[in-house]
Order: sequence, then structure tokens, then C-alpha cells
Amino acid sequence: MCGIVGIAGTRDVAPVILDALRRLEYRGYDSAGIATLVDGHIDRRRSSGKLNKLGDVLHSRPLHGHTGIGHTRWATHGAPTETNAHPHASKRVAIVHNGIVENFRELRDELKAAGHTFESQTDSEVAVHLVTDYLDKGLSPSEAAQAAVRRLTGAYSLAMIFTDHDGLMIGARKGAPLAVGYGTTESYLGSDAFALAPFTNKVAYLEDGDVVVIKGPDITIYDSEGRPTNREVKTTSASAALVDKGGKKHFMAKEIHEQPEVIGHTLAHYLDPAGPVVQRQGVGLRGALSKASRLTISACGTAFYAGMVGKYWFEKLARLPVESDVASELRYRDVIYPKDGAALFVSQSGETADTLAALREAKAQGQTTIAIVNVAESSIAREADIVLPTFAGPEIGVASTKAFTCQLAALASFAIAAGVARGTLSEADEKRLCAQLLAAPRLVAEFLKQEPKIEQLGQEIAKATDVLYMGRGPSYPLALEGALKLKEISYIHAEGYAAGEMKHGPIALIDENVPVVVIAPHDALFEKTISNMQEVMARGGKVLLISDKEGIARAGDVWASIQVPDADPFLAPILYAIPVQLLSYYAAIAKGTDVDQPRNLAKSVTVE
Ligand code: M6R
Repeated sequence: MCGIVGIAGTRDVAPVILDALRRLEYRGYDSAGIATLVDGHIDRRRSSGKLNKLGDVLHSRPLHGHTGIGHTRWATHGAPTETNAHPHASKRVAIVHNGIVENFRELRDELKAAGHTFESQTDSEVAVHLVTDYLDKGLSPSEAAQAAVRRLTGAYSLAMIFTDHDGLMIGARKGAPLAVGYGTTESYLGSDAFALAPFTNKVAYLEDGDVVVIKGPDITIYDSEGRPTNREVKTTSASAALVDKGGKKHFMAKEIHEQPEVIGHTLAHYLDPAGPVVQRQGVGLRGALSKASRLTISACGTAFYAGMVGKYWFEKLARLPVESDVASELRYRDVIYPKDGAALFVSQSGETADTLAALREAKAQGQTTIAIVNVAESSIAREADIVLPTFAGPEIGVASTKAFTCQLAALASFAIAAGVARGTLSEADEKRLCAQLLAAPRLVAEFLKQEPKIEQLGQEIAKATDVLYMGRGPSYPLALEGALKLKEISYIHAEGYAAGEMKHGPIALIDENVPVVVIAPHDALFEKTISNMQEVMARGGKVLLISDKEGIARAGDVWASIQVPDADPFLAPILYAIPVQLLSYYAAIAKGTDVDQPRNLAKSVTVE
């Protein structure tokens, strides 16, 4: 995750951009840079390290110019050096980028063959050469930017300025946020409204596929088809920007939409996209599992369901025996901890009392303790032997969404790493699985376009008093998560079951008033799940099937379906989490509940 700021202004913008970048430093701070137009030419200052270092550089070599873009980086592709710092530039364009360009290798090869010389190891630099190539072919900056954006795959946002075009700034959004600020004589771009708060209180949020062309105070937004479009301009107070909902009604909605970006950020910590392989500097960390006799996984609530998915991955990819239990049980059981065992604890807050107590007990029993946490300074992070961070950013909504998928991203990466360390995964398998994981941000962004359809289905679900969820394999924990999400924010009674268990009791609940959400990616267990689904339908059950294109086609007539992008089954838990989150969100909206602060709950449960 990186921070972007741009100003098409009427004063020297570099110091103002530097100040705005400071408000985005939470997004990354391993290098930074600013580019401006000085007499029509691109000039830039960059530095490795934190923004203070860039401040020193600007102090000794001031940067003038009224149009400029700035960036604070959290390295994904390429080390945090000055050469890899943004903005990247050619003679014609300077660009800052946040996110991942998935097809950078192909594009780089194509552009190199066309005579372009690359300076950095970043994926971002391909955007510079691609836009330059189109400019060289005679396209206008706006045409060149739109043509380039159409060729980049991945989840990202961009801001660019052009030689000889003072006052012109172009931004693009595909899966990572970009806000447009409206001033009286100036216009702004920023990764969030907080960065823009001192400049303007009028902000529009770009939608996926949008390109914005800014000429001084004039702003035109184009949609993904290149048609001029309007995006609502909201008026926010500076204090509101501090707790900005990103143009959404609720933090939960904002956090659901942040997932392409934060999953990408988390994966970037664990995977090296150049391979793609798991990061080699994690050798010590992988060593913890290379000889482990058993892995105990524990957590509470949604974090536990992430851990349950992890159990399937560790068993399959690393052939590692796994025991899992909720922390409130594990801490009081007479668990027989093995010699050379490891214990993994998953927590967004890192403060959940039961999880912390279970960790302390496992440590006392001689286990190597590993924690997947979102809050780096939390108690669990401090006490664990090994910390695997997630980079979901602050999660405000009580219902966990982005923290869950980031936990899955970290678990998947760690399971691959464990497979490599234990010799159960070949190099080819490692590459294949890493490549698939790196596609997750794009596929999640692609799926989010179906939100209007899921809104309607959420309204239907809201009419029920009971809802069942079912799935097999890694989709079983997702069924549990779907049911938890629905009950906690909509107060509708919901239960999740392993699909094969339905006939052992729960099927007695089925009638035409009970929607059954069937989570069935087209994997090795698909036919089994579909048989269980048929058993439900034979008893009048109302099935909402979540599957991919082929799965939906093969399943036949169901009450309703949600189509998830085609992907390897390994990715399914991450992708299928999004429809269950949106379904409960829209059911809760229809019920009129307090989505972000549902009754009786707390974000962080620090008591037993
Ligand atoms: O902070 P933690 O991840 O340890 O929290 C664990 C649970 O309390 C949490 O996941 C809870 O179940 C969520 N409200 C579910 O959305």
C-alpha cells in the first residue's frame, strides 16, 4: 500500500505535497518522491527512507512548479532504493502508482523490444513507458493515459503529469482508492480524503475503471468505457475526513471495498512477484515449521474461521498435522502439546483475551508461538515468538471483513512457505500457487462490480428469519463465517454447516422459507456439495448458490446464484468471502440495523 498526492495548482506545490504525504505515511514509508513541472519540464526529487529525508533533499535542492505529484512508498517490486522510488519518469510523463501491475513482465518485455530502457526494478515503471509509447505514437495525454490503463491488469491507482502541459494531471483507479479534490483555483488527487483535508472539503471518489483528467480547476471524469461521467461530490469536514468512510455509508462497506488493495499489500510482504516465489528472507520463519511435529491453530470468531481455512492449506501443501480449536476452549483443555510443536494464533486486534491466554499457555508448554496480527504493537504481537503481520489497516466496523481476507492471504503465503521448507512443494508448485495468489486483488476487484445484484439478494435474505450456509473443505469455514457475519449485523438467525452434515440433522429445518446459501467453488468436492444441495432442494429448500461460471451451469435450476470469477480452487476462500460479506451487509441495510456497531458486540474483546 502506497500513498499518492497530486496538485494542479497556482503556487509552488512541492512543500504542500510533502505535507499531504505526511498524512499518508501510514500507507508506507520506505521511500518517497515528488515530481513537478518546471517551465514545462519534469523535475523530481526522490529519496529512500522516510519523508523527513525527502524533506532534507527538498531543503537543499528546492523544487518549484505549480503542478506536481508525490508518493510515499511501501515496496512491493524492487528494494526501497532511490532508483525504485516514485515518481518514475520519462522525458514525457511522470507517474506515481499504488498497487500491483500484474502483467508487468509481459509489458516490460514488449516495451524493451520496442526500444524502451528501464531504470528500476518496479512494476510501476511499465506504466511510464506504456504512456510514453502512446504519446510517441501521437495520442494526446488523455488518450495515452486511457489506452495505457486499458492494458494494465491488477489492482492499482495512478497519478501522472506531462511535459509541456502545465496544469494537466491525470488519475486512474482500478481496485485501489483515489479521491479527487475540488478547489476554487486548484484541483487535487489523493489516496484518501484525509490527505486532501487541508485543501478542500469537496471530494469525489473515483470508481473502478475511471480516469480523471484535471486541467487546473476543471475536472472531467471518464468511466471504464471512456464516456464522460459524474461522480457524486461530497462535502466533508476536516474532522470527518479523519474518520473518512471513503464515500460509503458505513465503515463496513468501505472496508469491503478496500480488500483488493489491502490483500495486495499483505501478499506483497510475503511473496516476491519476480519469481513469483515466497520471500526468501523469511527463511528463519519458515524454519519454524520445517521440523514442527504439529501445528496448533487457535483464535476467536472470524479469526478462528480464517485459521480453520489455514488448517486445510497446511495439511495439503505442507503435510503438517494440524489441531485447531477456538481459543476460549483451547486455553482450558488439557491439550497434549507435542515436543517440537508450533502454535499459531490469529487475531485482528491482537488483544483478544482468550487468544492471548491460549498463546501464553502454548508458550508455557514449550510450543514455538506464531501470531498473525493486524495491530503490530498489540499484546499478542509482543508476546509471540514469531509475528506474521497483516496489512489490512485500521478496521473500524465491528464485523471483520478486510482483516479476514488479509489473514487468509498471510495464511496461504505461510502454508506455501511451510510446504517449501518441508520439501512437500516443488519449485513449480510454489510458482504456480504464488502466481495464483497474486491474482487475488484483481479478481476481488472484478467481483465487487456485482455489488448491485448482491444488494437485491441481500434484500431477499432480509425477509427470512433463519438462513443456513453450507460448504465442504475450505468452504466449510466460509459457511461458518457467512452465518456469523449475517447474524452479527442483521440479527437474522443463521448457522453454517459442513455440507455432508446436513442429512444428520439440520436438513429437518428446511422448508420454503429457509434460504440455504451453498458455497461451492468448482473444486474436487464440487459434485459432493451439489448432491447435498439437491437433497436440500428436494425438500423445498430455497438455494442461493455461490459458484463460478461452470459450477453454476452444471448445478442446474436454483432459486438464485452469485457468480464468482473463475480461479484456481486454492484462491476460493479469499474470493468467496466477498459475496458472503456483501450479502450480510445488504441484509443488514434492509433490516435497518446499526451496521458498524451492532448491538451487544465490541470490536475488541479484551475480557473472557
Ligand atoms: O481481534 P480478533 O481478530 O482477535 O477478534 C476475534 C473476534 O472477536 C472477531 O473476529 C469477531 O468474531 C468479529 N466481530 C466477527 O466479525
